[in-house]
Amino acid sequence: MPIYHKLGKIPQKRHTQFEKPDGGLYYEQLFGTIGFDGMSSLSYHVHRPTQVKEIGKALDVSPKIAVEKNITSRKFIGFDVAPKDDFLESREPLLVNNDVHVGLAAPRKSVTKYFYKNADADEMLFIHKGSGTLKTFLGNIPFEYGDYLIIPRGMIYQIEFDTEDNRILYAESFHPIYTPKRYRNWFGQLLEHSPFCERDYKLPQDLQTFDEKGEFLMKIKKQGMLHQLVYATHPFDVVGWDGYNYPYGFSIHNFEPITGRVHQPPPVHQTFETGAFVVCSFCPRLYDYHPKSIPAPYNHSNIDSDEVLYYVDGDFMSRKGIGPGYISLHPAGIPHGPHPGTYEASIGKKGTEELAVMIDTFKPLQITENALKIDDGKYYKSWLE
Ligand SMILES: [Fe+2]
Repeated sequence: MPIYHKLGKIPQKRHTQFEKPDGGLYYEQLFGTIGFDGMSSLSYHVHRPTQVKEIGKALDVSPKIAVEKNITSRKFIGFDVAPKDDFLESREPLLVNNDVHVGLAAPRKSVTKYFYKNADADEMLFIHKGSGTLKTFLGNIPFEYGDYLIIPRGMIYQIEFDTEDNRILYAESFHPIYTPKRYRNWFGQLLEHSPFCERDYKLPQDLQTFDEKGEFLMKIKKQGMLHQLVYATHPFDVVGWDGYNYPYGFSIHNFEPITGRVHQPPPVHQTFETGAFVVCSFCPRLYDYHPKSIPAPYNHSNIDSDEVLYYVDGDFMSRKGIGPGYISLHPAGIPHGPHPGTYEASIGKKGTEELAVMIDTFKPLQITENALKIDDGKYYKSWLE
């Protein structure tokens, strides 16, 4: 996140003595990415953040692949993913490759008994249903329907839900998740043609410091395993921090669509980028206004991208038989386009209420066993006339 942010107390100069009020020093931690070349934050802890007491049993949580090489267009009934109490157990990886794991989760309970860290991947949580607070060692972020939460790898967090009715689309990205570079100037500021700006971000706030000793379970995801480490001090013991590496939120409802006289290509909807996939937000917007325009998209060939569309709300103008929570997969190598009738039916329409999240990966996705259970199995024939 290329915005400087700070919370709590920090010393005037970095890497210098920062004294506690009752004697002793706070413990500085550089929390950086890409060696020492990427974004980083400097945090100040009451206790050393390194005090591992015990290492428990590790659990294999790597996705079980059902279809390794896929050329079938598919439709998944996302709300058929069964709710589960635990936040991590509720996650069902559906479409995966070496760059990203895309899945759905319907967690019922807040995380209170352990802390969680994904050591390998930046996480994007898209909140389809539910609200609550993302709690991290760098501060808290309240979230609600339509929020993207971007959690850089290594962030220690808990998640608190207001109710048991929660639906989340998630992506675990093994590449850092950034906002698109083309919307920034050379200093990182978002430019005037960007569909969102700095004011739209939900930055961490309300830094709480827990000076506690005892046994604190941390579940750490690394290399497909969920490790369990017991720490001797409370992980949220930061009194202050500053820098650029921290979690943040962004509401899809704050994405300002870019429209035109004729159909605009998907990159105008782009919200996030990585080295291996993009994330786009399809939001309610006015349709193309050329007198002869066709608002529905043209057929297009996904020659080198797998296209994953997650349908959130509203009408889905180019698709038939789609409901909220559904996912469509249009694999690389074959064309796809509007369903029969929708192309013609879109002519003359003034706008759309569709709300959807698209994840386009540059490498093919594999289909997991979880995904096959909610696959409708006949979507690939849905363009037949
Ligand atoms: Fe497409």
